[in-house]
Amino acid sequence: MNILYVFAHQEPRSFNSTLKEAAIASLEKEGHSVRLSDLYAMGFKPVLDRTDFMQPKRTDVFNPFMEQMNASKNDTFAPDIMVEMNKVKWADLLVFQFPIYFTSMPAIMKGWIDRIFAPGFAFNPATQNAYDTGLLKGKRAMIVTSTGAEQSWYSREGQHGDIHELLRYITHCTLEFTGLEVLPSHIVFGASKMSEERVKEETSKYVEKLKSFT
Ligand SMILES: Cc1cc2nc3c(=O)[nH]c(=O)nc-3n(C[C@H](O)[C@H](O)[C@H](O)COP(=O)(O)O)c2cc1C
Repeated sequence: MNILYVFAHQEPRSFNSTLKEAAIASLEKEGHSVRLSDLYAMGFKPVLDRTDFMQPKRTDVFNPFMEQMNASKNDTFAPDIMVEMNKVKWADLLVFQFPIYFTSMPAIMKGWIDRIFAPGFAFNPATQNAYDTGLLKGKRAMIVTSTGAEQSWYSREGQHGDIHELLRYITHCTLEFTGLEVLPSHIVFGASKMSEERVKEETSKYVEKLKSFT
Protein backbone atom coordinates (compact mmCIF):
# COMPACT_ATOMS: atom_id res chain seq x y z
CA MET A 1 0.00 0.00 0.00
CA ASN A 2 1.16 3.57 -0.71
CA ILE A 3 0.97 5.81 2.34
CA LEU A 4 1.38 9.58 2.48
CA TYR A 5 2.27 10.65 6.02
CA VAL A 6 1.58 14.35 6.59
CA PHE A 7 3.25 15.38 9.82
CA ALA A 8 3.35 18.58 11.87
CA HIS A 9 5.73 18.83 14.81
CA GLN A 10 8.78 21.04 15.12
CA GLU A 11 10.89 18.86 17.41
CA PRO A 12 12.45 15.56 16.28
CA ARG A 13 12.71 14.40 19.92
CA SER A 14 9.05 15.09 20.75
CA PHE A 15 6.48 12.45 21.61
CA ASN A 16 4.79 13.03 18.25
CA SER A 17 8.05 12.49 16.39
CA THR A 18 8.65 9.28 18.33
CA LEU A 19 5.21 7.99 17.26
CA LYS A 20 5.79 9.02 13.66
CA GLU A 21 9.22 7.38 13.44
CA ALA A 22 7.92 4.12 14.93
CA ALA A 23 4.92 4.12 12.61
CA ILE A 24 6.95 4.66 9.46
CA ALA A 25 9.53 2.02 10.45
CA SER A 26 6.76 -0.49 11.10
CA LEU A 27 4.86 0.31 7.89
CA GLU A 28 8.02 -0.06 5.81
CA LYS A 29 8.87 -3.31 7.56
CA GLU A 30 5.40 -4.58 6.62
CA GLY A 31 6.24 -3.87 2.97
CA HIS A 32 4.32 -0.62 2.49
CA SER A 33 5.74 2.40 0.64
CA VAL A 34 5.69 5.57 2.73
CA ARG A 35 6.24 9.17 1.64
CA LEU A 36 6.61 11.74 4.39
CA SER A 37 5.59 15.39 4.27
CA ASP A 38 7.30 16.69 7.42
CA LEU A 39 5.85 20.17 7.19
CA TYR A 40 8.05 22.14 9.62
CA ALA A 41 11.21 20.36 8.46
CA MET A 42 10.30 21.17 4.83
CA GLY A 43 9.61 24.80 5.73
CA PHE A 44 6.23 24.29 4.07
CA LYS A 45 4.58 27.59 3.14
CA PRO A 46 1.14 27.49 4.75
CA VAL A 47 -0.34 30.64 3.22
CA LEU A 48 -2.55 30.48 0.16
CA ASP A 49 -1.66 33.57 -1.88
CA ARG A 50 -1.02 34.85 -5.40
CA THR A 51 2.35 33.11 -5.61
CA ASP A 52 0.52 29.74 -5.63
CA PHE A 53 -0.44 30.30 -9.27
CA MET A 54 2.03 30.18 -12.15
CA GLN A 55 -0.42 31.48 -14.76
CA PRO A 56 -3.14 33.41 -12.94
CA LYS A 57 -6.44 33.85 -14.68
CA ARG A 58 -6.70 37.43 -13.44
CA THR A 59 -3.98 39.79 -12.26
CA ASP A 60 -6.19 42.77 -11.35
CA VAL A 61 -8.24 41.03 -8.64
CA PHE A 62 -7.20 37.97 -6.63
CA ASN A 63 -9.94 35.38 -6.21
CA PRO A 64 -8.32 32.33 -4.53
CA PHE A 65 -11.14 29.90 -5.29
CA MET A 66 -11.30 30.85 -8.97
CA GLU A 67 -7.52 30.67 -9.29
CA GLN A 68 -7.48 27.22 -7.70
CA MET A 69 -10.13 26.01 -10.16
CA ASN A 70 -8.15 27.42 -13.05
CA ALA A 71 -4.85 25.94 -11.84
CA SER A 72 -6.50 22.52 -11.30
CA LYS A 73 -7.75 22.59 -14.88
CA ASN A 74 -4.42 23.62 -16.36
CA ASP A 75 -1.89 22.11 -13.91
CA THR A 76 -0.46 25.53 -13.20
CA PHE A 77 -0.01 25.44 -9.43
CA ALA A 78 3.34 26.48 -7.94
CA PRO A 79 5.88 23.63 -7.86
CA ASP A 80 5.63 22.98 -4.10
CA ILE A 81 1.87 22.41 -4.47
CA MET A 82 2.33 20.13 -7.49
CA VAL A 83 4.79 17.99 -5.49
CA GLU A 84 2.26 17.50 -2.68
CA MET A 85 -0.61 16.87 -5.11
CA ASN A 86 1.42 14.16 -6.82
CA LYS A 87 1.99 12.51 -3.44
CA VAL A 88 -1.78 12.60 -2.78
CA LYS A 89 -2.49 11.05 -6.21
CA TRP A 90 0.04 8.29 -5.50
CA ALA A 91 -1.28 7.46 -2.02
CA ASP A 92 -3.90 4.87 -1.04
CA LEU A 93 -3.89 6.09 2.57
CA LEU A 94 -3.24 9.59 3.95
CA VAL A 95 -2.20 9.87 7.61
CA PHE A 96 -2.39 13.32 9.22
CA GLN A 97 -0.48 13.52 12.50
CA PHE A 98 -0.32 16.61 14.70
CA PRO A 99 -0.53 17.79 18.34
CA ILE A 100 -3.82 19.49 19.11
CA TYR A 101 -3.53 23.30 19.02
CA PHE A 102 -6.61 25.09 20.35
CA THR A 103 -8.70 21.95 19.80
CA SER A 104 -7.67 21.88 16.16
CA MET A 105 -4.70 21.30 13.85
CA PRO A 106 -1.62 23.54 13.87
CA ALA A 107 -1.76 26.35 11.31
CA ILE A 108 0.94 24.78 9.14
CA MET A 109 -1.21 21.71 8.56
CA LYS A 110 -4.35 23.76 7.96
CA GLY A 111 -2.30 25.64 5.38
CA TRP A 112 -1.38 22.35 3.70
CA ILE A 113 -5.11 21.55 3.44
CA ASP A 114 -5.98 25.04 2.16
CA ARG A 115 -3.36 24.86 -0.59
CA ILE A 116 -3.43 21.16 -1.58
CA PHE A 117 -7.11 20.23 -1.25
CA ALA A 118 -8.02 22.63 -4.02
CA PRO A 119 -11.37 22.64 -5.84
CA GLY A 120 -11.01 20.70 -9.06
CA PHE A 121 -8.23 18.61 -7.51
CA ALA A 122 -9.62 17.29 -4.21
CA PHE A 123 -13.28 18.21 -4.31
CA ASN A 124 -15.89 18.84 -6.86
CA PRO A 125 -17.50 22.25 -6.50
CA ALA A 126 -19.79 21.86 -9.49
CA THR A 127 -22.30 19.65 -7.73
CA GLN A 128 -24.88 19.76 -4.96
CA ASN A 129 -23.49 16.48 -3.72
CA ALA A 130 -19.78 17.07 -3.24
CA TYR A 131 -19.44 14.30 -0.63
CA ASP A 132 -20.46 11.59 -3.08
CA THR A 133 -18.41 12.96 -5.93
CA GLY A 134 -15.24 13.90 -4.01
CA LEU A 135 -12.24 13.63 -6.26
CA LEU A 136 -10.20 11.61 -3.74
CA LYS A 137 -12.78 8.81 -3.64
CA GLY A 138 -11.20 5.36 -3.32
CA LYS A 139 -8.51 6.56 -0.91
CA ARG A 140 -8.58 6.43 2.90
CA ALA A 141 -7.44 8.88 5.57
CA MET A 142 -6.73 8.88 9.28
CA ILE A 143 -6.09 11.46 11.96
CA VAL A 144 -3.47 10.83 14.63
CA THR A 145 -3.30 13.44 17.34
CA SER A 146 -2.26 14.15 20.92
CA THR A 147 -3.71 16.48 23.53
CA GLY A 148 -2.15 18.23 26.48
CA ALA A 149 -5.38 17.98 28.47
CA GLU A 150 -6.53 14.74 30.07
CA GLN A 151 -9.26 12.60 28.49
CA SER A 152 -11.87 13.81 31.02
CA TRP A 153 -11.72 17.29 29.45
CA TYR A 154 -12.77 15.80 26.14
CA SER A 155 -15.80 13.78 27.22
CA ARG A 156 -19.27 15.01 26.27
CA GLU A 157 -19.61 16.57 29.75
CA GLY A 158 -15.95 17.67 29.92
CA GLN A 159 -14.70 21.25 29.74
CA HIS A 160 -13.81 21.09 26.03
CA GLY A 161 -16.52 18.63 24.98
CA ASP A 162 -16.43 15.44 22.90
CA ILE A 163 -13.19 15.36 20.93
CA HIS A 164 -14.81 13.49 18.05
CA GLU A 165 -17.27 16.36 17.67
CA LEU A 166 -14.39 18.86 17.76
CA LEU A 167 -12.51 16.92 15.09
CA ARG A 168 -15.58 16.51 12.93
CA TYR A 169 -14.86 19.59 10.85
CA ILE A 170 -11.67 17.80 9.79
CA THR A 171 -12.93 14.21 9.57
CA HIS A 172 -16.28 15.00 7.98
CA CYS A 173 -16.32 18.53 6.55
CA THR A 174 -12.79 18.31 5.11
CA LEU A 175 -11.73 14.69 4.56
CA GLU A 176 -15.08 13.08 3.76
CA PHE A 177 -15.95 16.16 1.72
CA THR A 178 -13.18 15.14 -0.69
CA GLY A 179 -14.52 11.58 -0.91
CA LEU A 180 -11.91 10.09 1.43
CA GLU A 181 -13.01 7.18 3.58
CA VAL A 182 -12.08 8.18 7.13
CA LEU A 183 -10.68 5.60 9.54
CA PRO A 184 -11.18 5.96 13.31
CA SER A 185 -8.94 8.69 14.72
CA HIS A 186 -6.07 7.71 17.00
CA ILE A 187 -5.93 10.09 19.95
CA VAL A 188 -3.40 10.15 22.80
CA PHE A 189 -4.70 12.20 25.72
CA GLY A 190 -2.59 13.92 28.36
CA ALA A 191 0.53 13.79 26.21
CA SER A 192 2.34 16.84 27.60
CA LYS A 193 3.88 14.99 30.51
CA MET A 194 4.54 11.32 29.92
CA SER A 195 6.84 8.81 31.54
CA GLU A 196 9.21 6.87 29.28
CA GLU A 197 7.16 3.78 30.05
CA ARG A 198 3.95 5.40 28.85
CA VAL A 199 5.64 6.66 25.68
CA LYS A 200 6.64 3.05 24.92
CA GLU A 201 3.11 1.78 25.65
CA GLU A 202 1.46 4.46 23.50
CA THR A 203 3.92 3.85 20.68
CA SER A 204 3.26 0.13 20.49
CA LYS A 205 -0.52 0.68 20.82
CA TYR A 206 -0.42 3.04 17.82
CA VAL A 207 1.82 0.80 15.73
CA GLU A 208 -0.54 -2.14 16.32
CA LYS A 209 -3.58 -0.04 15.39
CA LEU A 210 -1.93 1.08 12.15
CA LYS A 211 -1.18 -2.54 11.27
CA SER A 212 -4.87 -3.36 11.59
CA PHE A 213 -5.68 -0.69 8.96
CA THR A 214 -3.01 -1.59 6.42
C1 LIG B 1 -0.14 26.58 20.53
C2 LIG B 1 -0.57 25.40 21.35
C3 LIG B 1 -1.91 25.17 21.55
C4 LIG B 1 -2.35 24.06 22.27
N1 LIG B 1 -3.69 23.85 22.43
C5 LIG B 1 -4.12 22.76 23.09
C6 LIG B 1 -5.51 22.51 23.22
O1 LIG B 1 -6.38 23.25 22.74
N2 LIG B 1 -5.91 21.40 23.89
C7 LIG B 1 -4.99 20.53 24.45
O2 LIG B 1 -5.42 19.53 25.03
N3 LIG B 1 -3.66 20.75 24.33
C8 LIG B 1 -3.21 21.84 23.67
N4 LIG B 1 -1.86 22.06 23.52
C9 LIG B 1 -0.89 21.06 24.07
C10 LIG B 1 -0.37 20.10 23.03
O3 LIG B 1 -1.40 19.47 22.31
C11 LIG B 1 0.52 19.03 23.68
O4 LIG B 1 1.59 19.70 24.29
C12 LIG B 1 1.03 18.00 22.69
O5 LIG B 1 -0.05 17.21 22.22
C13 LIG B 1 2.07 17.10 23.33
O6 LIG B 1 2.73 16.34 22.34
P1 LIG B 1 4.30 16.60 22.01
O7 LIG B 1 5.04 16.27 23.28
O8 LIG B 1 4.64 15.70 20.89
O9 LIG B 1 4.46 18.07 21.67
C14 LIG B 1 -1.39 23.16 22.82
C15 LIG B 1 -0.03 23.42 22.63
C16 LIG B 1 0.38 24.51 21.91
C17 LIG B 1 1.87 24.76 21.69
